[in-house]
Amino acid sequence: MEKALWNGKIVNKDEIKISIDDRAFHFGDGVYEVIRVYEGELYLAEAHMKRLYQSAEKVGIRIEVNPDTFLEQLVQLKEEANLIDGTIYVQVSRGVSPRNHPFPTPAVAAEIVGFTKGAKRPFEQMKAGVKATVIEDTRWLHCDIKSISLLGNVLAKQKAVEAGCFESIQHRDGVVTEGSSTNAFIVKNNTVYTHPADHLILNGITRQRLIELGRNHGIDIQEVAFSTEDLLNADEVFVAGTTVEIMPVIQVDDKKYGDNPGPITQTLQRLLHEDIEKVAGVRN
Ligand code: PDD
Repeated sequence: MEKALWNGKIVNKDEIKISIDDRAFHFGDGVYEVIRVYEGELYLAEAHMKRLYQSAEKVGIRIEVNPDTFLEQLVQLKEEANLIDGTIYVQVSRGVSPRNHPFPTPAVAAEIVGFTKGAKRPFEQMKAGVKATVIEDTRWLHCDIKSISLLGNVLAKQKAVEAGCFESIQHRDGVVTEGSSTNAFIVKNNTVYTHPADHLILNGITRQRLIELGRNHGIDIQEVAFSTEDLLNADEVFVAGTTVEIMPVIQVDDKKYGDNPGPITQTLQRLLHEDIEKVAGVRN
């Protein structure tokens, strides 16, 4: 039986009873994280936990369990679920209370659910590259919060699927923000550009790590916004996220960048692979 985490306890998945009065169900009123597991080791887990507590704090959700204990529970979940390669999904909703827009008073306990999913690393796509399409960013203005209210992101990803693409790259008034579930990057004249970490994007953990690894390696990486025109005139394009790692984009709509991922994208991929190998003991 598949295991899951429910308010601090590891249980069989089918024992979990989510109330229809859960505010996650009514309002999408909650926050979440997706943590990658490689060879049984959690990758960048502390950074994910930090962002989870930050997201919760930004929307006034109190997580009673402390971050260390919470992380131990996720490690225990990974063990009991026998997860070797895949992801841990964890969600914290504001709690259970009859449907009413204001926060419940007095406050109710947050409802915490976690589960695992086996997943292989997308080696073929990472090597060959993928296609993307440019669309308007119609989401709200708090994209820095990893909210479970993902309708805007779901609609954006569906547009990619319908266009036969891997990802949608979104823009606001011609300024590229991010993908539907990834951060977006371009390379121009050996400099990497990505949108600054403000309220218009999620500050991806993969984004933060690749910026650090790239800069330590001497690559010029600028957290400076770029336009859709810059995107089409770029030398290289890639998107990044926990499940897709660094994914080269070799075509955006009708614009082709080359048959293979560009050299800086490949260098960053190599640096991330080496980091994964070090942290999680994985051989690529
Ligand atoms: N998505 N931007 C958005 C909108 C995202 O949803 C994600 C992650 C990212 C990349 O963040 P990170 O590197 O921390 O995974 C950027 C997750 C994986 C998801 O919703 O499944």
